[in-house]
Amino acid sequence: MKASYSGQGIKEGIETLALFMKEATNTVVLTGAGMDTESNIPDFRSKSGWWRKMDPSTVASVTTLQQNYPLFHEFYSMRIKMLAGVKPHKGHHVLADLERKGLIKSIATQNVSGLHRQAGSKSVYELHGNIKTIRCNQCNSSAELQDFLDRRNCSACGQNLLRPNVVLFGEFLPKDAWGSAERDIRQSDLLVVIGTSLKVSPVNELPMLAPGKVVLINNEDTSSACKFDLKIIGKAKEVLEELSLSLT
Ligand code: OAD
Repeated sequence: MKASYSGQGIKEGIETLALFMKEATNTVVLTGAGMDTESNIPDFRSKSGWWRKMDPSTVASVTTLQQNYPLFHEFYSMRIKMLAGVKPHKGHHVLADLERKGLIKSIATQNVSGLHRQAGSKSVYELHGNIKTIRCNQCNSSAELQDFLDRRNCSACGQNLLRPNVVLFGEFLPKDAWGSAERDIRQSDLLVVIGTSLKVSPVNELPMLAPGKVVLINNEDTSSACKFDLKIIGKAKEVLEELSLSLT
């Protein structure tokens, strides 16, 4: 790791990142739950994160879906309802704007909120799916969000359980999203990783595939195996707002 900036020194780190972005021809962004906390969506492993209150394997796994649907349904209905009225913050908008200006090629995200697209980003790879779209666990037919919330059966095959299109523990990541993210990251000359503890495989392996510079923006240091060229320890929204000013 070459440089880490926090507190008072953060501006210098942001200016360095702006310079990296001006020089790069192929910048890709990888985001995690820390990107969404300033839109009031809890992350997973911080003090107020989901997995501090419950064990993921008891609510967000294939086993729970199959063996304890009421609990699975309760957890995901609660998360879906929490998204009502949630909006992208300035940081999401900055990323969308940088894509429009040709300074970002794509965003690979672990977030299921859909906030990057809502902010206007077009090239978004949702590695862990999208919580607002629903399908049948058996026949894969798509269904309405309200059908899931009402605990209806699948209208195509009649019987089976509806579920959000999210990756559960014990499932593979969506092939297309993973393939595109891997390809873009392998071709990048700058990867900017934002708001993730990099604790979850296989996404935590993606930064190691980047052949160019890798930068972390996170409100705490991570113990990732990745050798970051630059670390900016700060809040995603604040850092991205400042970055956008440094790029004008
Ligand atoms: P985590 O909760 O593991 O990590 C979020 C990181 O973002 C932590 O290091 C926080 O300190 C940091 N953070 C929080 N708010 C921030 C802010 N405003 N600005 C900057 N950093 C901030 O979330 P992920 O790494 O995204 O998977 O978790 C990965 C996966 O684990 C999730 O997609 C989910 C979970 O189990 C599945 O459900 C499959």
